[in-house]
Amino acid sequence: MTRLLVTGGAGFIGANFVHHTLTTRPEFEICVLDALTYAGNRDNLKSVAGDIRFVEGDICDTELVDRLVADADLVVHLAAESHVDNSLRDPEPFVRSNVMGTYVLLEAVRRYDRRFHHISTDEVFGDLPLDSEEKFTEASPYNPSSPYSATKASSDMLVRAWVRSFGVAATLSNCANNYGPYQHAEKFIPRQVTNVLTDRLPKLYGSGRNVREWTHVEDHNEAVHLILEKGGIGETYLIGSGCEMSNKAIVKILLELMGKPVDRYEEILDRPGHDLRYANDSSKLRTRLGWQPRHRSLRSGLAATIDWYRENPWWWASRKDAVESAYDASGR
Ligand code: NAD
Ligand code: DAU
Repeated sequence: MTRLLVTGGAGFIGANFVHHTLTTRPEFEICVLDALTYAGNRDNLKSVAGDIRFVEGDICDTELVDRLVADADLVVHLAAESHVDNSLRDPEPFVRSNVMGTYVLLEAVRRYDRRFHHISTDEVFGDLPLDSEEKFTEASPYNPSSPYSATKASSDMLVRAWVRSFGVAATLSNCANNYGPYQHAEKFIPRQVTNVLTDRLPKLYGSGRNVREWTHVEDHNEAVHLILEKGGIGETYLIGSGCEMSNKAIVKILLELMGKPVDRYEEILDRPGHDLRYANDSSKLRTRLGWQPRHRSLRSGLAATIDWYRENPWWWASRKDAVESAYDASGR
């Protein structure tokens, strides 16, 4: 058995990573470390509670992290403050969890000589022009726009420095926007789906022209396993499905799939510093490690995601009003 420590395993991608690992790689014995912030939810792991160890705790807690890393062979680090809009309201927890938390983990894996995988984002590269074929590559310069992406960029830099200066056995991945089950209703796709399900209007920032590359969370998590199995130490891999779409086009598809008129949405106050477009060139991951996304039709991925939220109101409905109140307070 390989002892795997997953930080942030009660969040959206982390919980899906735990489910995916239990299904596809029974050789792992999993321990989840998660502080259960507003974004973490034990219910995300309810169906596998008997198959894992769950530790409620903070990645900034040096003593706790030290103990858990000592007991692991491998650490997959997902814990972070993840929402750009929150980072614009209050950047402090982002600096703490994303930068300090990563530092604490790196020091522990250095002490015990453990394998480390750092989960990061394409947002560290800034944005691309709307009407271009350009894509980010592993060699793109860092140019983060928001407090969130600046702290993720800092965490990437720490990992790279610990590899070079201390020989820490780490890999990094920078993935494009994820979607799928268990994503918090603050994020774009679940927010619009749950808006429609609660008779609210979908809300587009500005005119909805901004473009994202949508990758199903299962495809992200399979890429992480391939990197753990075959990735080069010190290497970075970009992950992206190739499914680029404007926010406006997504909202129209969601409305159509949910049986509503496609113009039944509102355009609201834009996000300050709103990145225009993200797109990853994931050819390194595809050619060297053999990764292929299984979810290649965004339309059918969105239909399945709508079904999941429709079938699981127990998971999101009691928290929906609080999410919208927080947005109301910031004018969005
Ligand atoms: P999320 O907000 O849904 O989950 C984050 C989890 O981390 C939560 O369970 C939270 O409780 C936990 N956490 C936060 N601070 C912590 C701390 N100090 N100590 C312990 N646990 C803490 O986020 P997500 O969307 O699942 O993102 C997971 C990771 O993937 C993040 O590192 C994010 O930057 C990265 N990422 C996300 C996306 C995306 O589209 N969601 C894309 C690329 C990369
Ligand atoms: O690219 C990877 C990143 O994707 C991750 O690193 C982040 O953790 C994740 O949150 C996500 O960041 P975005 O800012 O791209 O995602 P978000 O879901 O917040 O917004 C997606 C797009 O939709 C963005 O252009 C803003 C817009 N938007 C968002 C909301 C919540 C709207 O138009 N309306 C909304 O209500």
